[in-house]
Amino acid sequence: MICGLGGFVPPRTVTNEELETRLHTSDDWIRTRTGIRSRHVIEAGQATSDLAVAAGRRALDSAGTQSVDAVVVVTTTPDRPCPATAPAVAGRLGLTGAAAFDLNAVCTGFVYGLATVAGLIATGVADRALLIGADTYSTIVDPEDRTNAVVFGDGAGAVVLRAGAPTEPGAVGPFDLGSDGTGEELIMVAAGGSRQRSSPGEPSRSDRHFSMRGQEVFRQAVTRMTTSANAALHATGWKADDVDHLVPHQANARILRAVAAELGVPGERCVSNIESVGNTGAASIPLALAEAAHHQNIQTSGRVLLTAFGGGLTWGSCTLRWPTLSKIEHPHDIGGIQAS
Ligand code: UT7
Repeated sequence: MICGLGGFVPPRTVTNEELETRLHTSDDWIRTRTGIRSRHVIEAGQATSDLAVAAGRRALDSAGTQSVDAVVVVTTTPDRPCPATAPAVAGRLGLTGAAAFDLNAVCTGFVYGLATVAGLIATGVADRALLIGADTYSTIVDPEDRTNAVVFGDGAGAVVLRAGAPTEPGAVGPFDLGSDGTGEELIMVAAGGSRQRSSPGEPSRSDRHFSMRGQEVFRQAVTRMTTSANAALHATGWKADDVDHLVPHQANARILRAVAAELGVPGERCVSNIESVGNTGAASIPLALAEAAHHQNIQTSGRVLLTAFGGGLTWGSCTLRWPTLSKIEHPHDIGGIQAS
């Protein structure tokens, strides 16, 4: 069960107006097509682990503990290809000795991470664990790619989990997870891995950057999130009407509206912060949860449905009973935290 929550976005804000000055785009196009007005990006020299540490520290504070048995960092943008980012994050949080590893399921990563950590706890490997979703898409998106540069932002969100009863506030699951690797080319960074490194020649500029076939991904995102969310509802024994708050991966405001409508969950029950952070990959769901916890607008034990879709292709959903939490910092508050 979740017993602590925290989020952090880097202070630098990139507004649609700023993007208008350097890309052939407009505030109107971005807002209409995506619902985004601004996003946060790291400064030169910062990295994913800097955001992960800030969010992780806040989640530990929120849980009232400084000790966990495992640290899992979910990311598509690790600090380096080797080693994993999680051990360094654990070390900087004073958690040396804890099990630490990375997990990558692209934008579905946080839900996969929740299932993985729930398993670590259920099998007794860990009594308490820190799960951090952190991504810096600004490091893989081509700044001149107007379609993707307007959509993605950087950020991190984290939860602390511990053992608990399935009906307790904070309880997560059942889960529905899935993948379809035949669609791997729809979302990709083609270069940088073993396939490119073992091939002759230098990678092209486009292969070195993030690519996405937007319209096809849009269609798949709506269908896969809806089907998966329904499976998680069914496994929990809830109907769409029982859902107090739907928290989808913040991919695009139009996708969020379509998923809520397909599920039969009223739009006002859909939690969204995409307007001010954009699509933050593995950080998107925990950042939205952290913002909701800051505003204290979800009641303890409220019935929450999480659903996500991302590269792989991957998808995943689960239910959550809202935890008992004290008010936490807003992810946009710097509050003395240095992001590096
Ligand atoms: O996080 C993992 C899951 N991700 C998602 O689910 C994302 C799903 N996809 C999307 O959100 C949308 O496909 C995008 C926001 C990425 C793109 O929106 P779209 O409505 O699918 O646009 P498009 O790529 O089909 O392009 C439509 C038009 C094109 O012009 P023409 O060919 O109709 O003349 C583009 O060149 O819009 C043009 N365009 C832009 N115009 C102004 C593309 N990007 C921009 C831009 N500003 N930034």
